[in-house]
Amino acid sequence: MKEAKKTVTYSIWEDIESLPELDRKLVLAANRATESAYAPYSNFFVGAALLLDDHSILKGSNQENAAYSVCLCAERNVLTTHGASDSDQGINAIAVVARHKTKELSEPVFPCGVCRQMMCEFEDRQKAPIRVLVHVPDGPCLIFSSARALLPFAFSGSVLR
Ligand code: THU
Repeated sequence: MKEAKKTVTYSIWEDIESLPELDRKLVLAANRATESAYAPYSNFFVGAALLLDDHSILKGSNQENAAYSVCLCAERNVLTTHGASDSDQGINAIAVVARHKTKELSEPVFPCGVCRQMMCEFEDRQKAPIRVLVHVPDGPCLIFSSARALLPFAFSGSVLR
């Protein structure tokens, strides 16, 4: 028997003012995207924004449904919007920002496991990592160098081929 270890390295930015300009724009776009969230059941408003290689930004938000299993996370919303578009631009980064209607969040919100799995496949498709930025309004921003860093043992379609 031997033990193995995987470690996750990420950077911590005290506030978004200190971020490089494009990343700051991206996080602000994700923050704005919380305003289009439809979250009457959870009161949890999530915005996600993609930074594409041409520096354009695409936004998405969570969209809930009275049949709860139909609820769509902000991250998968924006990823599938991009995937279904005719854009040929790679994804450089995804930013995620969440707000609760009444409670102040003290920590950034991390993408759920399903969204991480989808991000990993987008990385596989474009053969390039997607940076993941998570931010809580008026708080820090954490940056991970890839989606896979957040899901180290992701299922990969390579076993199906
Ligand atoms: N949600 C997201 O949009 N992204 C995540 O990564 C976690 C959860 C949404 C789904 C649901 O509308 C609400 O947050 C509460 O779970």
